[in-house]
Amino acid sequence: MKTSEIRKRYLDFFKSKNHDVLESASLIPQNDPSLLLIGAGMAPFKDYFTGKLKRENPRVSTCQKCIRTGDIDNVGKTARHHTFFEMLGNFSFGDYFKEDAIKWAWEFLTENLGLNPENLWVSVYEEDQEAYDLWRDLIKIPEEKIVRLGKKDNFWEVGVGPCGPCSEIYVDQGEKFGCGKADCKPGCDCDRFLEVWNLVFTQFDKDEEGNYHPLASKNIDTGMGLERIAAVMQGVDNNFEIDIIFPIIQRMEEITGKKYGEKEEVDVSLKVIADHIRAVVFMVADGVLPGNEGRGYVLRRLLRRAVRHGLLLGLKEMFMYKLVDVVIQLMEDQYPELKTKRDYIVKVVTLEEEKFAQTLEQGMQLLEYELAKLTKGQVFPGDIAFKLYDTYGFPLDLTKEVIGEKGFELDEEGYKIELEAQRRRAREARGEVEAMGTQEVITLEDLEKSNFIGYTNISNKDKIAAVLKNNLKVEKAEPGEEVFLVTENSVFYPQGGGQLGDKGIVTTPTGSFQVTDTQKKGSYILLKGKVTNGTISVGQTAEFSVDKDYRENIRKNHTATHILHKVLREVLGSHVEQAGSEVGPDRFRFDFTHFGPLTKEELAIIQQKVNEIIEKALPVTTEEMDLETARKKGAMALFGEKYEKQVRVVAVGEYSLELCGGTHVKNTSEIRYFKILSEGGIGSGLRRIEGVTGNKAFEILEGYQRTVEELAGLFKCQLGDVVEKAEGLMEKIKEQEKEINNLLQKLAKSVKDEILETKKVIGETEVFVKKVNVANVDILRELADSVVENRKNALVVLGAVTGDKVNFVAKATGEAVKNGIHCGKIIKEVAQVAGGGGGGRPDMAQAGGKNIDKIDEALEKVYYILE
Ligand code: ALA
Repeated sequence: MKTSEIRKRYLDFFKSKNHDVLESASLIPQNDPSLLLIGAGMAPFKDYFTGKLKRENPRVSTCQKCIRTGDIDNVGKTARHHTFFEMLGNFSFGDYFKEDAIKWAWEFLTENLGLNPENLWVSVYEEDQEAYDLWRDLIKIPEEKIVRLGKKDNFWEVGVGPCGPCSEIYVDQGEKFGCGKADCKPGCDCDRFLEVWNLVFTQFDKDEEGNYHPLASKNIDTGMGLERIAAVMQGVDNNFEIDIIFPIIQRMEEITGKKYGEKEEVDVSLKVIADHIRAVVFMVADGVLPGNEGRGYVLRRLLRRAVRHGLLLGLKEMFMYKLVDVVIQLMEDQYPELKTKRDYIVKVVTLEEEKFAQTLEQGMQLLEYELAKLTKGQVFPGDIAFKLYDTYGFPLDLTKEVIGEKGFELDEEGYKIELEAQRRRAREARGEVEAMGTQEVITLEDLEKSNFIGYTNISNKDKIAAVLKNNLKVEKAEPGEEVFLVTENSVFYPQGGGQLGDKGIVTTPTGSFQVTDTQKKGSYILLKGKVTNGTISVGQTAEFSVDKDYRENIRKNHTATHILHKVLREVLGSHVEQAGSEVGPDRFRFDFTHFGPLTKEELAIIQQKVNEIIEKALPVTTEEMDLETARKKGAMALFGEKYEKQVRVVAVGEYSLELCGGTHVKNTSEIRYFKILSEGGIGSGLRRIEGVTGNKAFEILEGYQRTVEELAGLFKCQLGDVVEKAEGLMEKIKEQEKEINNLLQKLAKSVKDEILETKKVIGETEVFVKKVNVANVDILRELADSVVENRKNALVVLGAVTGDKVNFVAKATGEAVKNGIHCGKIIKEVAQVAGGGGGGRPDMAQAGGKNIDKIDEALEKVYYILE
């Protein structure tokens, strides 16, 4: 029975029991920060189990894509471990409970799939008498085939959330798989009893502290590994041999020339690759990109682990990308999105494979070299593991795995020290640019902290709380002095969240101060600048005013980055994540994850979509809320960024929701217009768009307009005809160049004819000597070449004046050289006459001289020398 048939029968069966059949959720958990990846059929439904969310029909059934990497070391070595698998499941959110779950599971296996009840065993949680009784009395399973197991085996939970006791169904694969012990039964370590279905009676909610809270209503969560049941139905004793996996192994046999089933270690590598490529394809399709953290790391590690197994199979060339199509073919019926994203998946896999392939072999050599130095009991040095990571792209787990295979352990402390040192260096390097000369943390006795109050106001009155010069508190500052001002309530925005610090003016009754930058240092906001006249003293009441245009332009640009972020995700895909930005008054840059250059068409669509949102005149609103609520609402946040518990959320209509502390326009129409200035790569998988808005954008457009007008003036044509005109000119230039070349050739030919006329035979050698009129030495050389070409015994010496120099070139055929001609010697003497020097080989030489009026005399010398 084909795997697709099993899937279909399962979902149809539960549909007939009034379940809603839903599509598999994405591998990326939605609104669930406790999970990195979906690892069970129930994971997308946690909120329904706890009762937080309700659905009209409390019965659901799915075939869910899952990733589990907890047992990755076993993948390939056993018949059943996978990182990617599909789980069939039926769920009841407070509706049916143990009786129906048990009854239907039995019905499906025995009647629908036709498994022999004789071969089925079950287990129950040791304290669950209710389940025990149901199996015995309702299903009529003989008591010796119902096994009670403890919490380790029959209580299902992963991390926090819904969990409960469970009951499992096993297929007896027969004695040949067993340990042979008389009391062998489910729960035994041997392979005889294969667990196929887990029925979880979800009745608790586990919290972060490990407490179990009874759920208001009792639920059902079941999970049947699709690959396992397929192996049973297809009569293979290894999941990798089922119809939706084995073709990948066969393709690898073709690629490597190795055979499956002959050598244990070859099989392991083939299985690892077959498993990992499935995981890779599905993760990429769901929007995960390779990276060094989180999901990106899981993906990178799987792909690189597979590539290393390719190397173990003797493969030197890339291969993973070739497997993508095999996986898609096998899975596209159930997951049509794979087909639509095919090119994208191939691209991401190829890029990542390429990146690793370049360093893999060298890294492996280093690794093996270091391993060879170790003796038993020693640990593998942490700095080498770090180098492997940092220079050769080895995920730490891969290094650990390879050295583990050789029986060694890693000095993890050493590794961490290196990693930390590198991070510190990076921080310091950044710090140098950002520090504004105040490295130390400042503390002010009379002021605990500054507050930013400038979201709506751009001017206020407040006391100057401190004046800092070279990190020291001073009483006052004089004209020309560069200092920092600190105040309690600042309308000046300190650089942060990509937005540059404000500029503006501070005035006190005795002086004024020009603010050139604003930064946050510890809990204080520092206004950097110069006293422009008078003095500024601590304690004075001052008028603070931010440069209005500067701030206005920044606001427009900042809101535009939010819109752009959302548009990029819509146009390019949800793998796009913001990776940094800098929002200034004249332009902004926005960095994001994406695998390759954007096409002209994509850029045009992106620009247009951003402008459509601007035109819609959507209100931009901000709201404070706790991080949890913001996440639930789907607010976009920077991956890996640390946020406070209480966050500010910026909404652009209902279009975009982002965590952000920056300043924004009140309505998108204020932005007026958005224009992309450039797009380019700034590192692997990272792109940058530069953009501009508002007046600045119009200024740029007007600049273009003026350029076109000037061109039209020069071309003497209408504005609309400029391109055609320019094309015409280019065409004309091309034609003229052709013509010039023709003429030059003709000219060269006639010069050559003149040279040939100078022929004198000296000894056996034809000698040509001539002063010619050419533009440079290259042409002189070409002429000389063309003269001796096809001649047996010949010498040519040419001279030409170029600028204020005279150049000589001599060239002789092989036979002339045999007869004693030496161009180098000849040219040396010739050049001397013209006040220069030079030399060269017997068959070719070149020289220059200063006295241009001696050129004739110098050339005359050739005959003299030859005689
Ligand atoms: N959630 C249960 C499991 O994954 C069914 O085994």
